Amino acid sequence: MTYSRIAGTGRYLPEKILTNFDLEKMVETSDEWIRTRTGVERRHIAAEDQSASDLSVEAAKVAMDDAGVSPEDIDMVIIGTTTPDLVFPNIATIVQHRLGIPACPAFSLETACSGFIYALSTADKFIKADGAKCVLVVGVECLTRLIDWSDRNTCVLFGDGAGAVIVKPSDEPGILSTHLGADGQYKDLLYYPSGPSRDLDKAGTKEVGIMMTGNEVFKVAVKTLGNVATKALEDAGIEQSELDWLVPHQANIRIIQATAKRLDLPMEKVIVTVQDHGNTSAASVPMALDVGVRDGRIKRGQLVLMEAFGGGFTWGSVLMRF
Ligand code: COA
Repeated sequence: MTYSRIAGTGRYLPEKILTNFDLEKMVETSDEWIRTRTGVERRHIAAEDQSASDLSVEAAKVAMDDAGVSPEDIDMVIIGTTTPDLVFPNIATIVQHRLGIPACPAFSLETACSGFIYALSTADKFIKADGAKCVLVVGVECLTRLIDWSDRNTCVLFGDGAGAVIVKPSDEPGILSTHLGADGQYKDLLYYPSGPSRDLDKAGTKEVGIMMTGNEVFKVAVKTLGNVATKALEDAGIEQSELDWLVPHQANIRIIQATAKRLDLPMEKVIVTVQDHGNTSAASVPMALDVGVRDGRIKRGQLVLMEAFGGGFTWGSVLMRF
């Protein structure tokens, strides 16, 4: 059986850092409130002249180097993001061209914070069913571009960044299972009220920002992520105690702790980056994976569960031997 396996990881964070203390000067909030309610201490903000493709290219270069692949080796590019450079061409083609990757399928997926999990799951299917040999998968976001910086309910939560992986076929496991889900009935709890075919003229104006009913999102996120994580293990016939690492979406430390508790997993087995990155949406899981791999915690052959949840709502998991 052919498995898909992550052959290399990378991340890129923009230079500029915005701390909770900086935010105290912008809105009525406090470092203490943000830290205790969300776990966030600082977040990175893309420079004015940086777009999502710039962040993606930097993260991809690191992942390609880690995997020892050159642009000619790559035969597919999939990018999860809700903040692409342009309406079209899609961001994956921009990144493909910038990296010198020869003609191949290149497309983006827009499933909010689950973007990377959806993209990685898609890469897994193309490798197993369609003979793809080397897929560049990126989760990237410049979500701070959509923020109303006078809204304390949302402006303290988000950050920018990119995470990338190279996925290749392997006789050794590999991705063991992927589970994806969505339920549009929750669309009004978390959304951005402007897009290419609706109120585009309002984008980036004071009138619109990320709309979120935070406490309702919180409740559904905790329940859904608990269910997603336990289902991934149950379907694979794997005991919770066998899991080496949980690499969760980094939205809120309290959501992460609740998922770990549901899995009976000590926090020492959870990769947490929310304090340094904030919620970077589609970039959060691949960046957390890269952090865990590069600091030596996540080792080859270990059992890793990645999961995410985002606007829509959408959600998903990837269970793998790294
Ligand atoms: N600083 C200080 N006070 C703030 C604040 C801030 N940045 N943001 C909100 N508050 C206030 C509210 O106005 C409210 O005040 P009130 O009681 O006087 O009305 C109070 O804090 C409590 O607000 P509430 O929204 O109930 O807080 P909470 O405990 O639910 O925490 C979130 C708010 C946003 C941190 C939390 O709901 C959350 O993380 N939700 C999930 C968000 C998420 O993950 N989104 C992305 C999903 S991918």
